[in-house]
Amino acid sequence: MAVYSMHCLRRLLLYCVSVVAFLIVIFTSMNLLEDVFPKYVYSLDSKKVQSRASYKHAMSEETVKTLFISNTLKTPTINKIMHNTFLERWTTNSNRWLEEITTQRKEMFTTKAATNMKTVDINHEARIAYPLTSFGSPYVLNNDKICEGANNLTYIVLVHTATDHFYRRSVIRETWANKNILTNQSLRVVFLLGRPQGNTKIQAAIEHESYMHKDIVQGDFSDTYHNLTHKGVLGYRWISEYCLQAKFVIKVDDDVFVNIFKLMLGTSINYHADKRKLRCYIRMNGTSPIQRKTGKWKVDDSEFKNMTYFPVTYCNGFFVFMTTDIIKELYEASKVTPFFWIDDVYIFGLLPAKVGSIRFESMEGLTLSEEDSLKCFKMNKPCNYLAATAVAKGNMETLWYGSIKQYHSLAKAYAKPQLFSI
Ligand SMILES: *[C@@H]1O[C@H](CO)[C@@H](O)[C@H](O)[C@H]1NC(C)=O
Ligand SMILES: *[C@@H]1O[C@H](CO)[C@@H](O)[C@H](O)[C@H]1NC(C)=O
Ligand SMILES: *[C@@H]1O[C@H](CO)[C@@H](O)[C@H](O)[C@H]1NC(C)=O
Ligand SMILES: *[C@@H]1O[C@H](CO)[C@@H](O)[C@H](O)[C@H]1NC(C)=O
Ligand SMILES: *[C@@H]1O[C@H](CO)[C@@H](O)[C@H](O)[C@H]1NC(C)=O
Repeated sequence: MAVYSMHCLRRLLLYCVSVVAFLIVIFTSMNLLEDVFPKYVYSLDSKKVQSRASYKHAMSEETVKTLFISNTLKTPTINKIMHNTFLERWTTNSNRWLEEITTQRKEMFTTKAATNMKTVDINHEARIAYPLTSFGSPYVLNNDKICEGANNLTYIVLVHTATDHFYRRSVIRETWANKNILTNQSLRVVFLLGRPQGNTKIQAAIEHESYMHKDIVQGDFSDTYHNLTHKGVLGYRWISEYCLQAKFVIKVDDDVFVNIFKLMLGTSINYHADKRKLRCYIRMNGTSPIQRKTGKWKVDDSEFKNMTYFPVTYCNGFFVFMTTDIIKELYEASKVTPFFWIDDVYIFGLLPAKVGSIRFESMEGLTLSEEDSLKCFKMNKPCNYLAATAVAKGNMETLWYGSIKQYHSLAKAYAKPQLFSI
């Protein structure tokens, strides 16, 4: 009997040990798996953290399509690992979906846009002499309530974007400009566009996007390289009309990552004393050569005659920080400053020179190197870059995740709590 129970006990013990060992192995591998397939994904948009299972569900083609159509190119969630799958599905199908949207929305929108358009009675000479956006031409699309309810708004951000950059706008809305994580008075964003060249499909999609997100402002000019100055003037005009209460205006391109946490915490910003200032990467008067021979920036001999360098101080336009007090004057100045097509020179150089008594201050922490910024936002301590270009697909998200991690405790005061419940 004793022998038997001894034997039994030993078997039981062996059994227990095996079970424990087995469980350890399972748990360890699950933890490892967790790195590859995180249990939770950042779902900044839906306010809640989604489980992995529901995220997988969200990856089905049908769901991606539904989200695409209901939100116009809006990513449901952003996840470093899953992102590529999503992107692939997106790029293979988006043209077809765009076609469907166009058909569905044709009646709803084309007439609306057409009736909004009034004929602008200015002659061709005037259009060339001064930016046509200065002559009270109608907005093709306008969202005049972007700054509503924000009487103490700190930043209004003007994003210069090309008509078909749906994806970039979508990523900006999901990352650094996410309404669900920014407090009400901290930052609002407006996307500035011209007209797509002869492509009604793209126009229909933009109208849909504007309807969904209410953050699009479209001017009456072809969205082409040589018309970018019109976009800049459009931004000055729109702020003069709808958002003068913002303390600061920031202009960025749609491939720029903005470190909003650094921006909010910016120790160099003096909210009360900052006046009549442009902060940016400065191009000093008489130092930027005018390209005369070839290339994207070739300037005709008739413009800036006999000059080898631009005769004004201006800003490198990928990130420019302005105090709002000068915006209306800059807009007014565009009505009496002859058009020049290089937007940075015109809107951050010729116009400020015309207005006068505006100070340029050099801004630290701007980088054009994606490699540097990717490294910087991977570090364990907060990266000091305020803005960085993020052209390659996926980089905007990577920088955003990096910044959330790095500024986790510092940024708590400026974002809604759900950002930090992850
Ligand atoms: C935030 O602003 C919106 C208007 O844009 C307003 O309707 C809403 O009540 C505000 N929320 C808070 C909490 O102030
Ligand atoms: C307005 O914003 C500034 C800076 O963002 C802040 O110091 C101030 O307390 C705010 N005022 C109100 C009334 O919310
Ligand atoms: C700028 O826009 C106007 C108005 O749409 C158009 O007539 C003109 O051709 C455009 N200029 C360039 C250089 O694309
Ligand atoms: C520009 O250069 C041309 C030819 O060298 C000269 O005739 C003309 O006087 C110059 N114009 C100015 C404003 O310097
Ligand atoms: C730029 O420098 C030139 C030459 O020193 C000067 O004549 C011109 O007035 C300056 N422009 C501005 C806008 O200060």
